[in-house]
Amino acid sequence: MPTDDSFRFDPFDRDTRRDPYALFARARREHPVFAHTGFPVVSVFRYADVQRILKDPATWSSDFDVPGVDPGEVPDPSMLGQDPPAHTRLRGLVNQAFTPRIVQRLEPRMREIADELVAAALARGEVDLVEALSYPLPVIVIAEIIGVPPEDRERFKAWSDVAVEGLGNGLFVPPTPERLARLGGVRAEMDAYFSALAAERRRHPREDLLTGLVQAELEGSRLSHAEMLRMLILLLVAGNETTTNLIGNLVLTLLEHPAELARLRAERTLLPSAVEEVLRYSSPVQMDPRRATRDLELHGQRIAADQLVVCWLGAANRDAEAFPEPERFDIGRGDNHHLAFGFGPHYCLGANLARIEAQVALAALLDRARAFERVDDAPLPLHPSIVFRGVTRLPLRLHPR
Ligand code: HEM
Repeated sequence: MPTDDSFRFDPFDRDTRRDPYALFARARREHPVFAHTGFPVVSVFRYADVQRILKDPATWSSDFDVPGVDPGEVPDPSMLGQDPPAHTRLRGLVNQAFTPRIVQRLEPRMREIADELVAAALARGEVDLVEALSYPLPVIVIAEIIGVPPEDRERFKAWSDVAVEGLGNGLFVPPTPERLARLGGVRAEMDAYFSALAAERRRHPREDLLTGLVQAELEGSRLSHAEMLRMLILLLVAGNETTTNLIGNLVLTLLEHPAELARLRAERTLLPSAVEEVLRYSSPVQMDPRRATRDLELHGQRIAADQLVVCWLGAANRDAEAFPEPERFDIGRGDNHHLAFGFGPHYCLGANLARIEAQVALAALLDRARAFERVDDAPLPLHPSIVFRGVTRLPLRLHPR
């Protein structure tokens, strides 16, 4: 496949990670389908291509092995790594727990948690927002939905840190044996933890998602024990890092655009569209991989069967063919059909939940803090995985009303 030496896109490059948008613009224009030199993947950047790929699981499968890793060494994938009809069956078991109506019902409880966290942060004056609000809020909420003790959240954090530290990086560079061993260890701990909780629910059912999954498992044909464990781990991990990054990006992007922050303070009904705009403008999940199931051609480039293709959601979300003035951050943007939650059959299960969590977190901050600002302008530490756009620490000074 031809490559153009004058264009380089290295997703591990630090400067590129801080600001990939000029490169994304050039890639969309000149290299919409880019075969990396030295990495076994092809990148795709345009909105229309990404959307087409994500909605066509027959041509673009979610089921693939990580290059350089013996498939026998890794467990079977969760529904995230499966195609219809297996994916459809698994997703059908949990869909009902995340409908807009159900999530709406959880909103008062989310407000309560966010208010408590923001009040505690204000009492301290200077905090790392990630530690004080953007990590604990999503993890407490999902723990309560599943029915796992929210007090165990430090343990969940330790697990999900290991699970996501190199997420996606392995598509480009094979993971080290040490990383695979660490992942295996964490998986064994999570399996033991959820097996014990599931056994407890079999004896004492409750009104929670865990009980629902245990009942599906008891019916045998609907969910195997191994599938149940993988589902619980996916639910516990998938929503945390992502929503933590969304809340961090929301606060950071507003601080970088003071006029938009002032506009939001003056017009609070813009909160939902402000959250959508941050999802588009600073997408917490930057990339979404697929495997070609057959030989095909895209923009004149041949793609062989089994080729891994990475869809850059962050690039698609700044495509001028899909959004007027895509480089402008506009919290009042209408018709914001971004791809930050993916598209098609794997469209994010937790999208409703994440949206409300981000709205509730920012509302608590705006209600209780007269102002908030960065403690200094030192560069913030980036998330270790190239899948995510976000910072792992966000020191802020908060001023109470
Ligand atoms: C800002 C926050 C979030 C973002 C940006 C995000 C992003 C995404 C994306 C891009 C996908 C599609 C993956 C693919 O196409 O293969 C996805 C799937 C998924 N998300 Fe989220 N997510 C967020 C929050 C959550 C939350 C709170 C949950 C909690 C339940 C969650 C659970 C899932 C699950 C279970 C899937 C897999 C769905 C499937 O395979 O059918 N996500 N998410």
